[in-house]
Amino acid sequence: MTLLVTGGAGFIGSNFVLDWLAQCDETVVNLDALTYAGNLRNLAALQGDARHVFVHGDIGDRALLDRLLAEHRPRAVLHFAAESHVDRSIHGPGAFIKTNVEGTFTLLEAARAYWSALGEEARAAFRFHHVSTDEVYGSLAPGAPAFTESHPYEPNSPYSASKAASDHLVRAWHHTYGLPVLTTNCSNNYGPFHFPEKLIPLMIVNALAGKPLPIYGDGQQVRDWLYVGDHCSAIREVLARGRVGETYNIGGWNEQTNKQIVHTVCGLLDELRPSAAGPCTRLITHVADRPGHDRRYAIDARKIERELGWRPAETFATGIRKTVQWYLDHADWVAEVQSGSYRDWLATNYAAR
Ligand code: NAD
Ligand code: TYD
Repeated sequence: MTLLVTGGAGFIGSNFVLDWLAQCDETVVNLDALTYAGNLRNLAALQGDARHVFVHGDIGDRALLDRLLAEHRPRAVLHFAAESHVDRSIHGPGAFIKTNVEGTFTLLEAARAYWSALGEEARAAFRFHHVSTDEVYGSLAPGAPAFTESHPYEPNSPYSASKAASDHLVRAWHHTYGLPVLTTNCSNNYGPFHFPEKLIPLMIVNALAGKPLPIYGDGQQVRDWLYVGDHCSAIREVLARGRVGETYNIGGWNEQTNKQIVHTVCGLLDELRPSAAGPCTRLITHVADRPGHDRRYAIDARKIERELGWRPAETFATGIRKTVQWYLDHADWVAEVQSGSYRDWLATNYAAR
């Protein structure tokens, strides 16, 4: 048996592949374009492991997809590949339309052609699992009920609009063609291998370097944070037992403001790697807000708990401690990802704030 994973060299995809192969022997074919966010170093533990087949390529390449599907005959496609950073989508939305919308379309068409030609049993067992985000639902007012699976789609950023479009394509490919799809919409993840353009790893690596910790606007925006290993376990459950055509919201029951997050990270760094210059919070700087900044996301994860018995294993306290410790233990990984293109991004996003 084989899985075709897209985007398995990125943050969540690499955690998924590592967790999957730690738990079973089913081969993973990992298709990744190795954009700035893809990093083969995340998968170094799998070097020489025949269960992991890495393919450097683009989900928009139909001929490549057809060849991979014919050659490896996967029983499922797990679709992680995407452009994933809201701020980058504001500076350059084109790549988001190309990969998240057109790329998902191409992958769906290739999967449909492959699935249609399978024998009856394999057709019934096949799954196309689309990994998506809670950001498709838009922004919640303070005190409003958390997002359920029937919350209207109201995406506000180019990133969330492109993910919403991909969710709609996946839904349509099920309703029109019968492709056996599953969609999961997850809240903000954190954990090992998180690229330091996103809030939590950016704060950790900046603090360690004694650089400013840039909080957008008033820092009172709320996100629901989930440890990446819990996202991976939820995906495994949905893939195994989720109802075809359904969507499942995945969240950590852990709403926090950005300010709270930064203070927690600072507290852990003061404990684990104190600086002679003083407490980490001295570095906090308020900078210009993100345009169209969503105020609050919150996930109602009762459906996945009710139907599949899934709940997160980590609390935020345990997950964030592990995460900060991981960054302290992996200074080489951090140094490597802070390449020239990373520095260019920091200049693009923060210089004018
Ligand atoms: P990431 O940016 O860290 O990784 C994306 C990966 O996709 C990279 O390895 C990149 O090289 C690859 N990729 C990009 N374009 C590609 C293309 N055209 N063809 C093949 N590969 C390509 O993203 P992530 O944070 O790991 O997110 C993975 C998925 O989970 C995304 O679909 C994202 O929308 C979704 N998601 C992320 C979060 C989060 O908090 N990070 C939360 C919910 C859902
Ligand atoms: P991010 O990690 O980019 O995830 P998303 O925008 O997908 O939720 O940002 C999380 C929150 O942190 C978001 O409200 C924006 C805020 N933020 C900052 O305040 N400063 C920063 O430097 C970054 C990258 C994010």
